[in-house]
Amino acid sequence: MEAHLTEWLNLTVRWIHMIVGIAWIGASFYFVWLENNLNRANPRDGLSGDLWAIHGGGIYHLEKYKLAPPQMPDNLHWFKWEAYTTWLSGVTLLMVVYYLNPSLYLIAPGSDLAPAMAIAIGFGSLIVGWFVYDLLCDSPLGKKPALLGLILFVLVIFAAWAYSQVFSGRAAYIHTGALIGTIMVGNVFRIIMPAQRALVAAIEQNRTPDPLLPAKGLLRSRHNNYFTLPVLFIMISNHFPSTYGSQYNWLILAGISVLAVLVRHYFNTRHDSNRFAWALPAAAVGMICLAFVTAPNRQGGVPNAVPTSPREQSIEAQQAAAAAPAEQAGNSEFAEVHRVINERCTVCHAAQPSSPLFSAAPLGVMFDTPQQIQQQAAKIYAQAVASQIMPLGNMTNMTQEERDLLGAWIDKGAPID
Ligand code: HEC
Repeated sequence: MEAHLTEWLNLTVRWIHMIVGIAWIGASFYFVWLENNLNRANPRDGLSGDLWAIHGGGIYHLEKYKLAPPQMPDNLHWFKWEAYTTWLSGVTLLMVVYYLNPSLYLIAPGSDLAPAMAIAIGFGSLIVGWFVYDLLCDSPLGKKPALLGLILFVLVIFAAWAYSQVFSGRAAYIHTGALIGTIMVGNVFRIIMPAQRALVAAIEQNRTPDPLLPAKGLLRSRHNNYFTLPVLFIMISNHFPSTYGSQYNWLILAGISVLAVLVRHYFNTRHDSNRFAWALPAAAVGMICLAFVTAPNRQGGVPNAVPTSPREQSIEAQQAAAAAPAEQAGNSEFAEVHRVINERCTVCHAAQPSSPLFSAAPLGVMFDTPQQIQQQAAKIYAQAVASQIMPLGNMTNMTQEERDLLGAWIDKGAPID
């Protein structure tokens, strides 16, 4: 029952997170698009441009003021709760998925990191990350946007690498995303909103607004703009074990992020110039290259696998010794595979999991019958041989020999008789 309730809590929070996230990023994309498409030829007095659009059966006419209208309207729409609720629901989801069950999803299999410590590192790093970022932007580097951008990129990838040293690959990715997301929301909360409030107040009091605040806001919203696509990838990355499950997961994330920033840059600049027309085809070629470099090397064992810790190796040695008599008895290969799956996987992956953590088979993946095992051989390879994502948190202490056994069997076409 408890596992079932956690699943529904997860479902509800994730759903909310997605809805408000779409509202936030959608509004942000829309305003960038507006800005880029304003008709700036001969604007009316006090305007910087206007734009006509048709949507949902109605025709809209939008105008952008150079600074502000002579009189502020009664009802000015602000966009901030989309950002705040995305962060709040995101942090709640981080707790529900990773912090409620740290040994399952958060901590790297075989690591001796204490759960409370892992949670402190995870959550604490988000806060520290924001302050480091904020200091960098306010330092003299803030006047050199390109250099600052490069340094921020390197720091984010460094964070991804550091996370991958203490967390499971999946948790390393999600914390990198949460770190960037925290910076983005921090920008809205601490910089962009205050700048807008100061602007409105100055106009209402007939003062000249401080030009420094909007300039600061602009830098921060530009960062948010370039952060968006990498964050969106990270949020869906847990579907793609060849990325987060790799030993070089942080490098793969760096590659994908470069392509994402390139694509964003193309969309940001295409209205003014065609100089970055090469960006989209280049990104497509980049994705194909990444697909090749991340491909598992099926002849060479387990190239992408995270090295096992000493603790795991000693468990492996014990288990290899325990498994030896069965091999001597001359069982068929599939019988061995079946035993491994039953021992290491079916506590979770069964119609009725015996693990108290799951009330139903995770993602509907079940290994109750030989046919089910055979049908899902390719997935088993991806999860338990090429990468070592499964068994989750290596809760069932699977050994390297067992992974090799599964790999060899699958390479032969996964015969079950
Ligand atoms: C402790 C519980 C647990 C154990 C043990 C376990 N898994 Fe999983 N498995 C999960 C969970 C949870 C998911 C869903 C992960 C997610 O939400 O993305 C999953 C997902 C999968 C998937 C589907 C991945 C996808 O994205 O389609 C496969 C395949 C899989 N596991 C194979 C295995 C194999 C093979 C073993 C044994 C070597 C194993 N699992 C052991 C919990 C477990």
